Amino acid sequence: MSEWKNYIQQAYHLEPSHEGKTGVVGWTSPSNIALVKYWGKKPVQLPINPSLSMSLSQAVTETTVHWDAVGAENSGVTVHFNGQPAPAFRPKVVAFINRITQSMPFLGSLQLQIDTHNSFPHSAGIASSASAMSALALCFLQIEMQLFRLQYTRKEFLQKASYLARLGSGSAARSVYPGFVLWGETPEVEISTDQWAVPVDAIHPLFQDLRDSILITSSQPKKISSTQGHETMNDHPFRQNRVAQAMQNINILRTALKAGDWETFAAVTEEEALGLHGLMLSARQGFSLLNDHSLAIIDELRAFRKQQQVPLTFTLDAGPNVHVLYPADYETRVHAFLHDELSGYLENGQMIHDFAGQGPEMLTQYGNHGEK
Ligand code: PMV
Repeated sequence: MSEWKNYIQQAYHLEPSHEGKTGVVGWTSPSNIALVKYWGKKPVQLPINPSLSMSLSQAVTETTVHWDAVGAENSGVTVHFNGQPAPAFRPKVVAFINRITQSMPFLGSLQLQIDTHNSFPHSAGIASSASAMSALALCFLQIEMQLFRLQYTRKEFLQKASYLARLGSGSAARSVYPGFVLWGETPEVEISTDQWAVPVDAIHPLFQDLRDSILITSSQPKKISSTQGHETMNDHPFRQNRVAQAMQNINILRTALKAGDWETFAAVTEEEALGLHGLMLSARQGFSLLNDHSLAIIDELRAFRKQQQVPLTFTLDAGPNVHVLYPADYETRVHAFLHDELSGYLENGQMIHDFAGQGPEMLTQYGNHGEK
């Protein structure tokens, strides 16, 4: 993999001539919802199976980083979340920086002031680590470009950002691209790799504007973290079959996304959603993250779909909140149904209406080059 060596592994060190340089970078990056689920990992943060997601639009993290090239002795990191010091988030940022230190040794010689804002509530069933870690990865890569006056093509930039984001949180690898995204090696897709995600092209118009209404049945913190959940796949009795199933589902889903085949899309999406929770239940020391309302909502959605002939499906993340997916043309009817019939199952009636997004955006007020 020569491209891999050239621009992904090239590591830049701060030289004395860089000291005193300073700059600001900023990115917004979306969360994403997996349709084929990443569940189980190998070191270092590589997936045991490929996954396929849709990047969201409204659920984003906005991150700005002020950087000062102060040298290793004076380096440090401050982190603010939604305007407040973030004692819980800072250790995650520091762990991320440590993990990418081989790729970005210069980070250890900077003073970094990180300000991050989420557009969505915490524990809302939206993966905040995906948006947060991808936004940070994009910022760090932008700093590298400013400091060392580098130019990347768009493809190189996004690939490297995805590689870095992956080391922060696996699912974050997928958030650097718009639309539908594949992460993890799968035999039928030549460009696929475990190292970074790649975009899935040629999507049928039916899916380009896909809606995702997130029904919040509970905002309580999860009793099993995703890190613990991934670990249960290490000795899971169904591990081998799961990996084979994910590869097969990726292929079926890619074909359905291209052809505009809603029935197949819905069948695979639901198999994956319930399969993820099935894997949790059937793990050694099995557990469940669903609640009664999640299950009742699934029954209601299926009954509504059957009675009204509305193309609608659902997925679940590692939690009890239900993502309802449907084409944009059905928005009015589906919203009316969700609000009228399902609000009673939700914590304070909370739902978030999101849709397929355009991917990360650079905050352009922070130019491309560092100032001296
Ligand atoms: O990126 P992590 O470690 O938070 O894992 C995400 C796992 C799932 O959300 C359950 C599935 C996925 O592919 O996003």
